[in-house]
Amino acid sequence: MPVPSHWQLQGYGRPQYTNVVYPFPVDPPKVPSENPTGCYRREVLLDESWLDAGPVVCRFEGVDSAFHIYWNGELVGYSQGARLPAEFDVSAYARPGRNVVAVSVYQWSDGSYLEDQDMWWLSGIFRDVFLLSRPSAYLADVRADADYDLSTGKGSVTVEVPLGGRSERALEVEAALYDGAKLVASGQCPERASQASVTLDCGEVEPWSAERPKLYDLVVTLREAGGGALEATAVTVGFRHIERRDGLFFLNGAPVKLRGVNRHEFHPDFGRAVPYLDMLEDVVTMKRHNLNAVRTAHYPPDPRFLGLCDRYGLYVIDEADLECHGMGASGDLSRLSNDPAWRPAYLDRLERTVARDRNHPSVIFWSLGNESGCGSNHAAMSELARRMDPSRLVHYEGCREAEVADVYGSMYTAHADLEALGKDRALDKPHVLTEYGHAMGNGPGGLKEYWETIERYPRLQGGFVWEWADHGLRFPGRPGAFAYGGDFGDVPNDGNFVIDGLVFPDRLPSPALAELAKVCQPVAISLLGQKVELRNKYDFLPLSELQGSWALFEDGAAVAGGPLGPLSAGPGETEVLGTGPFPAVSGEAVLEISLRTVTASPWAPAGHEVAWEQFALAPPEREAAPSPPRGSAPVPDGSRPPARGKPLSVTPFGDGYVVKGPSWEARFAGGWLVSWSAGAGELVDSAPRLELWRAPTDNDRGGPFVPSLAKQWEDAGLDRLEHRVEDVEAEETSEGAEVTVTARAAPAGRTWGLRCTYRYRFDRAGRLALAVEGAPDGGAPAAFGRVGIALALTEGFEQVSWYGLGPAETYPDSRSAGRLGRHTMAVSDMETPYVVPQENGHRSDVRWCQLERARSALLVAGERLFGFSVHRWSTAAMAAARHRDELVAEPRLWLQLDHRQQGLGSASCGPGPLPQYVLRPEPFSFVLGLWPIAPAPADPGPVARHLRAWLAGTPVP
Ligand code: GAL
Ligand code: MG
Repeated sequence: MPVPSHWQLQGYGRPQYTNVVYPFPVDPPKVPSENPTGCYRREVLLDESWLDAGPVVCRFEGVDSAFHIYWNGELVGYSQGARLPAEFDVSAYARPGRNVVAVSVYQWSDGSYLEDQDMWWLSGIFRDVFLLSRPSAYLADVRADADYDLSTGKGSVTVEVPLGGRSERALEVEAALYDGAKLVASGQCPERASQASVTLDCGEVEPWSAERPKLYDLVVTLREAGGGALEATAVTVGFRHIERRDGLFFLNGAPVKLRGVNRHEFHPDFGRAVPYLDMLEDVVTMKRHNLNAVRTAHYPPDPRFLGLCDRYGLYVIDEADLECHGMGASGDLSRLSNDPAWRPAYLDRLERTVARDRNHPSVIFWSLGNESGCGSNHAAMSELARRMDPSRLVHYEGCREAEVADVYGSMYTAHADLEALGKDRALDKPHVLTEYGHAMGNGPGGLKEYWETIERYPRLQGGFVWEWADHGLRFPGRPGAFAYGGDFGDVPNDGNFVIDGLVFPDRLPSPALAELAKVCQPVAISLLGQKVELRNKYDFLPLSELQGSWALFEDGAAVAGGPLGPLSAGPGETEVLGTGPFPAVSGEAVLEISLRTVTASPWAPAGHEVAWEQFALAPPEREAAPSPPRGSAPVPDGSRPPARGKPLSVTPFGDGYVVKGPSWEARFAGGWLVSWSAGAGELVDSAPRLELWRAPTDNDRGGPFVPSLAKQWEDAGLDRLEHRVEDVEAEETSEGAEVTVTARAAPAGRTWGLRCTYRYRFDRAGRLALAVEGAPDGGAPAAFGRVGIALALTEGFEQVSWYGLGPAETYPDSRSAGRLGRHTMAVSDMETPYVVPQENGHRSDVRWCQLERARSALLVAGERLFGFSVHRWSTAAMAAARHRDELVAEPRLWLQLDHRQQGLGSASCGPGPLPQYVLRPEPFSFVLGLWPIAPAPADPGPVARHLRAWLAGTPVP
């Protein structure tokens, strides 16, 4: 059995996922007698020198859930507390040469009642194990409490060193603080009663913060008087001061806002045995996305993770390994939390957390655990935390009035409730969103509004999105698929509720992470005429850390740009800078401001963009009358004016019509556009149809606070609208031809439906303006998924380009990260690979998009802005699939052209979309222009302007 690992991921037993329920009968402290047990055995060779001095110590960083250790056949001891370290003095059992260490690890223990976090149940020795040889007298611990005096800029470190073992001679401890190789301060302290302490006055120091994580090295050496060093160790030190006053908390005097995420330890192959480089990747990815805080939900992480937070700069809420959520089944969630018999176990979990992690400057709050109700045991933990470490604050969300904590934590708070918390003057403690923005599947929506609220009220000091990563395990034997609850035959399970992260299991960032980065950007950028106002939202960094640039785009093409003058605003300050001069533009003008780092940092190269904004300078060009593409400009074949007077023909055919142009032909059957061929052949595989449904997102499926909209859709038959075609009329017009279809769309077995009209207007050049109107009658669901049309194009379309928001998907309430511009992408990259297939890939605010294949293209433009997505599978297939590998790519291309989309919200655990993003079932009408072109123009821009102008009714010469 590899160590570290979980045996369930090595072929023994099976992973099981539950959110709240215990996977065993709730009868604390008893656990099942059939208790999976991992028996580890390993030989170690010990050099004699290890045994003639002080103790030989065996240290375990994490064993899930409990274990006995035996050395050379003798029982040494027992420990529990899965995510906490344990040390054993094995000196009495060890011998020179070959030794056998055996560890018997139990999947269940009474500790399991306190380890009911929402995650996979995974067992075994999942963190490192060390064997340590100590001298006869040794440093039993080193506690370095660094403080920073804001008024003087001076730092001090109080070093306390409990000593272990014994020595014939007097002992002394030396503490020396270095800044790199430079000695900053040092001090000696004689030992008194096995305890040495010294306070180093370090003079003026550079303080530590997440923005500037300056670290010093403290070297602590234990000596025998007049003799050599017995032992030495180094501890990184960051100078910072945390305090609570005036209803807020301050770090180095700044009322920081925590732009945080909740991070579980998770890896798709190794579970909670996360390799160091993956931890590093997490930290770097967080830093690159403007995050400054992490809550170690819901247990102390691998200690190396905290070292990375110190070094790269993240504020940490370090949480004790304690959750007894499943006790709710007893009718009293606080039952264990109020039971004095459990108090020692509660205190043990807190004490071991503080003892292990107190030297990390990144840790700013101790958290008493998660979702364990509120009881006297929490009060005792809180007291212990304050006694052990008065320099930090205490967090615990479960006591709703923050009785035992310094901050009010709340979870999944609706925007309006957060606003109320911000205003509430009776609250004398700051507030943080312990969890918000449930990032399950496609979502969350509404991050922008959360941050607007947080910025409005000083008392709201930030929050932590739930959660960092999807806990999808690589699905054995199914490449490309990730497994979740139930996939291992695990019962009970909570399905895909564990797939709720900002990054996919393999750490590919999801669009939601880009959205979070955007709404958390450290500089607010606004436009004042031709000047740009920058508000520095950093707490400690001046804007001189960044370089700015501006760029002017016309219809998505850069036409001018340059640097912004040197930036200088200090933290919290605002400055105004000039841009331009701008050349005159006739198209849609967009000014983009971008702010990038000047120098490289450990987490990003120089030039890393931390903030940007776009401003529309002139209204879109749709009212203008552009000239048609001319000369070498790409001219669609169909756009060449046909020979004068050559008529279009409209001929009845079967139950429909054939409309024939000079170089194209469209066929209608039973009211549907079943064929459209132009230039390079047939385009239509499946006729355009009104679509009001989308493959439900996890958020559409609702959750603990909001009923399922997807269920309403199903009940109302939104996914199975059928059309009763009432009338088809076709006529030649002065411009070309027009086909009008009126129908009623309604689902089987339901009385509600929509009256709708499809109007197809063709001109000679082969342009189609499709106008769709609909009016739902009573009984429609509370919201539609979308209003648009869906069609399938014949095979061969492999690439898309568009002018609109991108490059990644955007939705009405998650679109801050979308940049208005020209984007080109392979069809396969247009898909966002949610672990559980669902609606995805929607591009918003699109002016035009072009679907391209080798010899032709279909250009689509909107009379107004529209949205689109492309998939290799139908909406129904997407809704039916439960894992990615169940989706089978079709040769045809499904094209969704959306007039509107429903917001995302975060109803899977939290509020639904804000009212302004709800797509109510109201009458609608929209017009889209479609134009088959051969060959595909390299620059569809001018052609698209032509099409849009035609749509807008401007006569085209
Ligand atoms: C919270 C809980 C988390 C997780 C989340 C839902 O209530 O603290 O552990 O379960 O809900 O994903
Ligand atoms: Mg829970």
